[in-house]
Amino acid sequence: MKVTVIGTGYVGLVTGACLSEMGNHVLCLDIDPAKIRILKEGGIPIHEPGLLEVVQRNVQAGRLEFTTDVDHAVAHGTIQFIAVGTPPDEDGSADLQYVVSAARSIGQRMTDFKVVVDKSTVPVGTGDKVKAAIADELAKRRMTLDFAVCSNPEFLKEGAAVQDFMRPDRVVVGAEDERAILLMRALYAPFVRNRDRMMVMDIRSAEFTKYAANAMLATRISFMNELSRLAERVGADIELVRQGIGSDPRIGTHFLYPGVGYGGSCFPKDVKALAKTSADAGLPSRILTAVEAVNEDQKMVLVNKVVTRYGEDLSGRTFAIWGLAFKPNTDDMREAPSLVIIRALLARGARVQVYDPVAIDEAKRQLVDVEEAVNEASSAQAAVSGADALLIVTEWKEFRTPDFEHLAASLKDKIVFDGRNLYEPALIRSFGLEYHAIGRP
Ligand SMILES: NC(=O)c1ccc[n+]([C@@H]2O[C@H](COP(=O)([O-])OP(=O)(O)OC[C@H]3O[C@@H](n4cnc5c(N)ncnc54)[C@H](O)[C@@H]3O)[C@@H](O)[C@H]2O)c1
Repeated sequence: MKVTVIGTGYVGLVTGACLSEMGNHVLCLDIDPAKIRILKEGGIPIHEPGLLEVVQRNVQAGRLEFTTDVDHAVAHGTIQFIAVGTPPDEDGSADLQYVVSAARSIGQRMTDFKVVVDKSTVPVGTGDKVKAAIADELAKRRMTLDFAVCSNPEFLKEGAAVQDFMRPDRVVVGAEDERAILLMRALYAPFVRNRDRMMVMDIRSAEFTKYAANAMLATRISFMNELSRLAERVGADIELVRQGIGSDPRIGTHFLYPGVGYGGSCFPKDVKALAKTSADAGLPSRILTAVEAVNEDQKMVLVNKVVTRYGEDLSGRTFAIWGLAFKPNTDDMREAPSLVIIRALLARGARVQVYDPVAIDEAKRQLVDVEEAVNEASSAQAAVSGADALLIVTEWKEFRTPDFEHLAASLKDKIVFDGRNLYEPALIRSFGLEYHAIGRP
């Protein structure tokens, strides 16, 4: 099949690459010439495990191409995926300007039947807006061409995006047009061969499903974070509680990890957007408001522990920071709790020595205004050298079994503030390190 993907970011590039892997001829469009240049030169603009290989293989086979030429992109695919960003607007709602602009660009140029598939995360009712935008552009051209609009929300996880796309738990398709449903079934059939995991529903329910999924996951995180604070207060160990409840199949073990709060490009904005949808519908969500408020507080939990230990004035102190990306295996720094933590430490007069396996360049861009107080380290070991204490912010695998002796020898005060509960308290303390974790006595 001929497929166009509009927007070549985390979702668009993975979608385009994986669809080409199954033999489709995919053209990826982006308005950012720098991204397209990197892709045309054989690289990828993001860190995503396994993605470079899939991209290179399919580019070589002639099935995957990149362009900034909108005419070419609209002419190419019978299926046109919209995978552009939907950042939060000032009032928390999803800003649909990129989605609508992509839809208009299709309406301005199409000359034959198109299935326009919204893969971006968009509020309920966006399908109608996309339809109206295309119809409006066709009317301006005095043309009556047939087209169908579908919703196909994406559930991939950054850091495991290729794997998630190739072996999806489910493929949700919101569609009313029979031809579109047939095409989407054919497109996804190779990804769901062992069991049909495609769920066809109405467009509004498909749009809603994506927000409901992310809101549920964010709720679990905030719930555990809130319980972790209570555990500290009443002298319980949240790690034991987590295992105790996770073993119940009705609860399950996933997404029960207390930490430094959720970040990334999805949960924060999607929780806000669903809360806005609820408010607009006259049903303000008390749960989502609380989920967000708990998360904002949680980003400060490590800083609060540092302040309790050292006092408000941190001038003259240096803290090592392990992990900057909002989660492991990605270079995505959008809404990363590390940024809040670093700024809060600097505001109290401290300096930081930061290390992340892949997100350092992006982090530096985001911290450019405070760069004189931020030292970039080339390794986890280098980051702790000469620091007073260590803060662990992202649970990269390489932090899981550190050389505790080296850590104790390098840190002036021998203190570790662990925002991810990576270590057995008794073990780390046996090396003479003072250990502060989340929700653990
Ligand atoms: N990142 C994730 O893990 C993830 C997962 C599921 C869903 N989503 C959703 O998918 C959507 C995209 O997210 P992302 O993380 O890939 O965003 P991104 O910012 O990485 O990529 C979006 C891309 O779209 C391009 N773009 C914007 N307007 C364009 C236009 N008119 N024509 C062509 N290109 C255009 C931008 O230049 C950018 O490269 C969002 O709605 C997001 O909520 C993201």
